[in-house]
Amino acid sequence: MPRSVKTAVFPVAGLGTRFLPATKSVPKEIMTLVDKPLVQYAIDEARAAGIEEFIFVTSRGKSALEDYFDQAPQLEQSLEAKGKTELLDVLRKTNMESGAIAYIRQTQALGLGHAVWCARRLIGDRPFAVILPDDVIAADTPCLQQMVEAYQETGGNMVATMEVPADKASAYGIVDIAEDMGSIVSVKGMVEKPSQEEAPSNLAVIGRYILTPKVLTNLEEGKRGAGGEIQLTDAIAQEITDSDNVYGFRFAGQRFDCGSKAGFLQATVSFALSRPDLAPELQDFLQELSFASKAAE
Ligand code: G1P
Repeated sequence: MPRSVKTAVFPVAGLGTRFLPATKSVPKEIMTLVDKPLVQYAIDEARAAGIEEFIFVTSRGKSALEDYFDQAPQLEQSLEAKGKTELLDVLRKTNMESGAIAYIRQTQALGLGHAVWCARRLIGDRPFAVILPDDVIAADTPCLQQMVEAYQETGGNMVATMEVPADKASAYGIVDIAEDMGSIVSVKGMVEKPSQEEAPSNLAVIGRYILTPKVLTNLEEGKRGAGGEIQLTDAIAQEITDSDNVYGFRFAGQRFDCGSKAGFLQATVSFALSRPDLAPELQDFLQELSFASKAAE
């Protein structure tokens, strides 16, 4: 099996109900952190890791996503005519090469495992990555790139992981650690959304995966797991054998849960503070706010 990873799957079929009413007409993945849609962060990370084929698993109401990745010739012409070269550059960076991007519909909301399985024919018989755009990771070396590098050593299946507080385990897939080698851990079990008591560790799966096509075969069985859904975690867990072929990877970076409002706001503030064009004004504002709230105490 080759250890190059050229294909990534982006499950974006969710309804985004936590962001209603915004998501009544705007797909959650188009919502912006500072000035870039969530999905652009995911694409940029995938590109940095050497991904060349991008598969989006979408659903009804997500056509704005397809438009977003299309070229915008009128807009380009108008920016060109006005000599706005910087903006033109920003715009062009979002263009996807013809044929590099594919959309497939998940017609029933049966879970993350099912969403990935919907892409099986496009993935074929190659290792592939999965990126959940809700998990935004700020890192010097983009998270998937770190994983692709580690995967050169391990092969097999790899999931991004990070430590979470015990009372938050039930929101994640949790790994059972066989051997802890620092940034790489070998995994002897995985449980999707366990109760705090049942969690085998506090090492949670975060939305970046490098998987073998065998996981797609496991998904074929359509077994229901936590929440009555077809879980990706369960199909990966099925790959745990004596040959140690499931690994957790502790990435370096800060993860924001942009599927929650609090996480989305934290990411917005943090990303804005890292931007030289925005940081000074925002810092002043945050300072004023904190003075005002202290004064009111
Ligand atoms: C999904 C996965 C879960 C993982 C989480 C990370 O859950 O099923 O294993 O820990 O993403 O964000 P979701 O958040 O979609 O419920």
